[in-house]
Amino acid sequence: MTRFAYVNGRYLPQDEALIHIEDRGFQFADAIYEVWSVRSGELLDADGHFGRLERSLAELRITNPKSRAGYRLVIAELLRRNRVRDGLVYLQVSRGRARRDHAFPAAQTRPTVVMTAKRLDPAAADRRADHGVAVITRPDQRWARCDIKTVNLLPNVLAKQAAIEAGAAEAWLVDEAGKVTEGSSTNAWILNAEGVLVTRQADHAILHGITRSTIMNRAAALGYRVEERAFSVEEAQTAREAFMTSATTFVTAITSIDGRPVGNGAPGSVAIALREAYLESL
Ligand code: PDD
Repeated sequence: MTRFAYVNGRYLPQDEALIHIEDRGFQFADAIYEVWSVRSGELLDADGHFGRLERSLAELRITNPKSRAGYRLVIAELLRRNRVRDGLVYLQVSRGRARRDHAFPAAQTRPTVVMTAKRLDPAAADRRADHGVAVITRPDQRWARCDIKTVNLLPNVLAKQAAIEAGAAEAWLVDEAGKVTEGSSTNAWILNAEGVLVTRQADHAILHGITRSTIMNRAAALGYRVEERAFSVEEAQTAREAFMTSATTFVTAITSIDGRPVGNGAPGSVAIALREAYLESL
């Protein structure tokens, strides 16, 4: 089946969907992106992701080329053309195409909009969550504005690759104070010895995960205490539970950190309950 992508107003077979070599996303990573999960044809946490998209663009002073309704029309058409009921939608907006020069191009330069949709098997993701995953830790080598969802992901790519080569699913990034910031593409959580859920405060050192804030609300509704603060690798290794959240993994239990089992080494009951609460609310 031919997969279709959207590029600057046109739907094209993915192999023919190209951007210019002088696109600023390609030249400078001068671009932002968003990822929505799709379940039963619906976008999860749709407005949260639209809100973050608008914020990322505003922080970089890229003009938002579309309204939410405009993006939604394209998303609906991509889901239809690619026959996606369960999967992902990817959106990228760059500052546009201009002769290579670091400074911003002329004000009339049109942002580039690229959107794709792909199918994923929800059962495969559920099976992974049932088993839990291993993480390793790596120094956080990113810039000082990780709250903006830019495509500038090289440190994340290198950390994820290191995780895969170590037989793990994710790398937790650690700041100079020895505290976990987040995963290479997920937010990081623990359930500490006192039964309190801990996840780093939403400062400039982490992406303000949309799944993270939904889970904070769900957890509070289920009666858990949530503390937003940094935690160390040692605290995580001796926690009762650890897990990660993102649009692609929802809530997925972490069963070991740098080879040391978390709790009894099996997915924790709170992580499982939060995953169920998230998916049930759809
Ligand atoms: N990643 N932290 C980082 C660095 C991320 O890249 C992501 C998302 C998250 C979780 O955010 P959210 O809950 O809004 O998905 C945290 C996406 C899924 C990706 O890059 O594919």
